[in-house]
Amino acid sequence: PALWAVLPAAGVGRRMGSAVPKQYLDLAGRAVIEHTLDLFVADPRIRGVAVALGREDAYWGDTGYADHPKVMRAPGGAERCHSVLNALGVLEGRAGDDDWVLVHDAARPCLRVADLDRLIEALMDDPVGGLLGIQVRDTMKRAGEGERIETTVDRSSLWHAYTPQMFRLGLLRHALHDALEAGDLVTDDASAMERLGRAPRLIEGHADNIKITRAEDLPLARFYLQQQGR
Ligand code: C5P
Repeated sequence: PALWAVLPAAGVGRRMGSAVPKQYLDLAGRAVIEHTLDLFVADPRIRGVAVALGREDAYWGDTGYADHPKVMRAPGGAERCHSVLNALGVLEGRAGDDDWVLVHDAARPCLRVADLDRLIEALMDDPVGGLLGIQVRDTMKRAGEGERIETTVDRSSLWHAYTPQMFRLGLLRHALHDALEAGDLVTDDASAMERLGRAPRLIEGHADNIKITRAEDLPLARFYLQQQGR
């Protein structure tokens, strides 16, 4: 089966407090999303990349990937799950249901090539698919009323869910459709699979695969990219 990538990039970045959506903020002289795309476009295993963009996106045309033959444009949706589903729609006709899709947040530019490699290698023969994540290191608390601790949660089985998340195209489309029909606006692709009783596999990645969310994440991302020689 072939390998494809989907980049949801239609968020408006409310938490950033900036007029420019986070995927277009400047990171070492280029937009965040250009750094993210570098990895997927350069990877010869990946046939094509579908990028879901907001309706009012005024920035995509100025990126270096707007006219790239390997990159396809899809309309963004109200939530991330709608954007992913739209991007899967653009792959239809080119990709088969058994093909693999790597869904990766446009706002995660610091993904390591080695982590992408390990994810693909670990899951190529997996019946379900899975995702990159890291095990929780801090002690975890559940808050009750007045932000007072109700209980300490056992962290030994807790993970942070990252992207890429890698699933079979047909199964992922079905799972996302099903979630939306049930009114469940899943915040990642694994959640949609879990709703159908599947158990995606967790592959340990690295904590530098951050999602640019706040202004202070940008200098950190710059540092991580430099460390990777990118
Ligand atoms: O908002 P959040 O941090 O969860 O966004 C994760 C990714 O999903 C970002 O790359 C963002 O651009 C994308 N997204 C999207 N469509 C939306 C909301 C978010 O493609 N409606």
